[in-house]
Amino acid sequence: MNELQNPGFDTLCIHGGHLQEAHRAHLTPIYASSTYTFNTAQQGIDIFQGNEEGYIYGRFGNPTIREAEAKIALLEGAGLRNSDGQPLQLYAILHASGMAAITTMLLGNLKAGDKIITHHSLYGGTQELVDKILPGLGIESVIVDFHQPELVAAAINADAQIKMMYIETPANPTLQCVDMEVLSALGRQHHLIVCADNTFATPYLQQPFRYNVDFVMHSTTKFLNGHGTAIGGVLVGRDAEKMDGIVKKTHRLLGGNSNAFEAFLLTNGLKTFGLRMERHCNNADEVATFLDNHPAVAKVNFPGLVSHPDHETAKKQMKRFGAVMSFELKGGFDAAVVFMDKLRLCTNAVSLGTCDTILSHPASTTHVGVPRDQRLASGITDGLIRLSVGMENSTDILADLQQALG
Ligand SMILES: Cc1ncc(COP(=O)(O)O)c(C=O)c1O
Repeated sequence: MNELQNPGFDTLCIHGGHLQEAHRAHLTPIYASSTYTFNTAQQGIDIFQGNEEGYIYGRFGNPTIREAEAKIALLEGAGLRNSDGQPLQLYAILHASGMAAITTMLLGNLKAGDKIITHHSLYGGTQELVDKILPGLGIESVIVDFHQPELVAAAINADAQIKMMYIETPANPTLQCVDMEVLSALGRQHHLIVCADNTFATPYLQQPFRYNVDFVMHSTTKFLNGHGTAIGGVLVGRDAEKMDGIVKKTHRLLGGNSNAFEAFLLTNGLKTFGLRMERHCNNADEVATFLDNHPAVAKVNFPGLVSHPDHETAKKQMKRFGAVMSFELKGGFDAAVVFMDKLRLCTNAVSLGTCDTILSHPASTTHVGVPRDQRLASGITDGLIRLSVGMENSTDILADLQQALG
């Protein structure tokens, strides 16, 4: 593949990051070895000092992990160029989970006294990390409506401790989208580290590095793996020195490393990534239109619908609109519980981005412990259902939703 001038996205999905394996195995095997040997003491010195390529210890990486990292870095940068007009080179570090990748990014870049500027609708786990763990380390957050750049600028100007801008678009579960071009420009103008969680959109639909962000994070558990077989996360960065320096150090010392088996599953899943995303998006467009016209549904949150308040922003920065949506049932909590229990094909589970259609009712599951007022304030109403549209035949998904709504 290295000889190809401009490999296409699907070619990168299949071949990207693959190196000739020592024993000429067609696929990179699962390297189930906790440590790696040195032929001589001098080789150990050279590998430790970075003068020779080589693996050291499983927590630092292995060939199976390396392939998944290289593939994802290629996909996030596919078709992008740096300021010199050269293909944009990105670096990825695979983690045990999306949360581990986010933690490395935060702790590798911030210190006590620094602040993060972010918006209301982050993934719940990230929000809790920012609210409950970081303040204990002396890192506070400033929350602003990212739909209003003038408020963001005013907040940054008012507080010299703000060092990082944290973006998530589309956001979980309201599917709010914010303008990365505008926000990243603002962040860079003020010398902030700008990072974006790209889990919902994936690099197939949206490439935050197009807008000069510094870091992108993913829960690879979702569409990148695509089959629901492994928890994982990835941190992608553009600054080679930083990625090979403090970020790598933080990853190794926090110990949130991936493992060979889950990296293998991720690499395998990524081979069909482009094809899968097209099918997910086709089905999602149909499902959103169906729900939008259903009398039992009060509201559908899907950036592909022209009625979505952020439709124009999504159109600007996403190739298509993804496959996650949420909708509100007119009958509230009770109707939502009845609906979930009537599903026959679609699965009642948390998570998203798997082959099969997955739904969850946040008010009775993920948010059952959140006080109602607080839950409502973040847009999670009693009858809200989150839906990740799978790749089954759309007629079967629609029939199941229809019978469960009826
Ligand atoms: C947008 C987003 N970011 C991060 C995460 C955390 O990922 P993980 O569960 O792999 O740690 C999730 C999980 O749902 C998510 O939806």
